[in-house]
Parts: sequence; structure tokens; C-alpha cells
Amino acid sequence: MFSTSSLTLFFLALVATFSLVAAAPTPLSRDVFIPPVLSPGKGAVWHVGERYNVTWDVSKPPKQITNREGMIVLVNKGLMIDLEHPLAEKFDIMTGSHEVEVPDVKPGTDYQILVFGDSGNTGEMFEILPRKTQNSIDTTTTDS
Ligand SMILES: *[C@@H]1O[C@H](CO)[C@@H](O)[C@H](O)[C@H]1NC(C)=O
Repeated sequence: MFSTSSLTLFFLALVATFSLVAAAPTPLSRDVFIPPVLSPGKGAVWHVGERYNVTWDVSKPPKQITNREGMIVLVNKGLMIDLEHPLAEKFDIMTGSHEVEVPDVKPGTDYQILVFGDSGNTGEMFEILPRKTQNSIDTTTTDS
């Protein structure tokens, strides 16, 4: 028989599992490929409007990949940003890298990249800074 507390624990574990994978396509297959994100790595700094390569480890794919189509989503404070407009989609997950442009998001230190193969995997926290401007590059110029 289940005691009340073990039922509660089971329920909480179930809720935790579902909230982690909410909105993520998660086929319950054994041959899922969850590519580990290599870059942007810890301490990386991106600028709004610039292009960067996202890279992930493709050295240990399962024998049979059920879904080769990849998708890259920006994550802030653990929440996926604008899932309808991912940073990239419909590319071959086995290429191991894809160039993305940083959208016009609020600067902050708590961003992560999520790469989806069969399931998603987030990379390390990194920072996004505001768009580079002419002014910030050339700050010593004075009008005369
Ligand atoms: C991304 O990688 C490709 C292939 O190595 C390279 O041609 C491209 O310049 C890189 N893009 C950026 C923004 O670094």
C-alpha cells in the first residue's frame, strides 16, 4: 500500500518531470539524441544583432536517430523565448553547429541556448549585451 507521503512524492516527481519538458517534443523512444551544447559556453558574451555559431557534441549519437531535424531556442531564466520563432530550425542536427543571430532581447546574464534533436538540452549560462553601436566603438571622438 502507498502511504500518503510516498503518493505525494510520486505526484511531485511527476509534476516536476512534466514542468521540465513542458512544450518540448519528447518522443518516448530509446534512440533519442539529446545533443550536449558546447558553445556558447560558461562566461560567453553575445551582443544583440550579432551572429554567432552555436555548437553541440555529435560524437555520441544513437545508432538510429528518430528525428534529424534540429531546432535552436533561446532560454532566459529557464524559460524558452518565443518558441514560435526559434533562432534556427529545420537544419540537420548532425552538422554540430549552426549560425544564429541574437534577437532584440533584454540584456542579461541568465541566458542559455537550447538545442533540440529528439529532445532538448540546454547549455551553460551566458550573457547577452546590448547591440553594438557606432558610438560605443568610437567613444573618444569629440565634435569640434
Ligand atoms: C560559423 O562557422 C562557419 C563554419 O565554420 C563559418 O564559416 C562562419 O563564419 C561562422 N560564423 C560566425 C558568426 O562565426
